[in-house]
Amino acid sequence: MQIYKTIGEIAGACRSVRQRGARLGLVPTMGALHAGHLSLVRAAKARCEIVVVSIFVNPTQFGPSEDFGKYPRSFENDSAMLREEGVDIILAPPVEEMYPSSERTWVIVEGLSDKLDGASRPGHFRGVTTVVAKLFHIVEPDVAFFGQKDAAQLAVIRRMVRDLNFGVEIVGCPIVREPDGLAMSSRNAYLNADERQRALVLQRSLQRVEKDFRAGQRDAARLNEAGRSVMAEEPHVALDYFEIVDPETLEPADRVSRPTLVAVAAFVGMTRLIDNLVLIP
Ligand code: PAJ
Repeated sequence: MQIYKTIGEIAGACRSVRQRGARLGLVPTMGALHAGHLSLVRAAKARCEIVVVSIFVNPTQFGPSEDFGKYPRSFENDSAMLREEGVDIILAPPVEEMYPSSERTWVIVEGLSDKLDGASRPGHFRGVTTVVAKLFHIVEPDVAFFGQKDAAQLAVIRRMVRDLNFGVEIVGCPIVREPDGLAMSSRNAYLNADERQRALVLQRSLQRVEKDFRAGQRDAARLNEAGRSVMAEEPHVALDYFEIVDPETLEPADRVSRPTLVAVAAFVGMTRLIDNLVLIP
């Protein structure tokens, strides 16, 4: 397993992989790896001969009052896990390598970047699409793997790839959960025991929507109300959004007549968590 910290080195290594004709898979991450990340790595291993994992806590996708400073960083542990998985290349550039001077160029997916997480975290998706575009240019992967856990991020990246003609196939991978159902997240490490218990309300709210949907409810407003009512039962969890939308455009749905995304975000104490499910009629 090779670990590269400069863009010159990583671009050179990826170029020689491509010249050999090997299929190159990229898994972008911010580190603090858990089984959710590893599921993407395994999907990449299954589809690609060479797997590159990037570990970069991207400052441009954090707001000024967000957790960039305290975001968990555990490179030794992460690289040991990736070695175990048989990853070929880790890209772990310092911030100055990715952003050497004050940048003037951004990639913005208009109309999608200000929905869901983009509405509550202004500028977040601009940072995500800019850094992912940079990674795509540096690595030039054949396939890149993203988690359905970040459903809005996946929609924004798919749209960027389409609009800017990136020659990369985007694969979305299912949400990996803890045994009790909580979606795995690097931010779960922030939760104390009490908050960890309360955090289960996110998944409960989605399960309630799914139950009503299975019982025949197709009206999005009714389903939304049902989900919100479950969220309201947990007083120390502050709802950020609960939305029922088209999974590609992120526009609100009226009725569930095709695959529809139900997405929730909430603050459990100071920690912002997200979860979602797709209803398939
Ligand atoms: P990060 O939060 O580290 O997540 C990296 C990838 O792992 C994302 O595609 C995310 O959707 C996926 N992931 C996280 N938790 C998951 C889970 N429980 N099940 C399945 N997949 C999961 O997302 C980012 O980093 C950044 O925004 C990034 C794309 C790297 C750009 O900086």
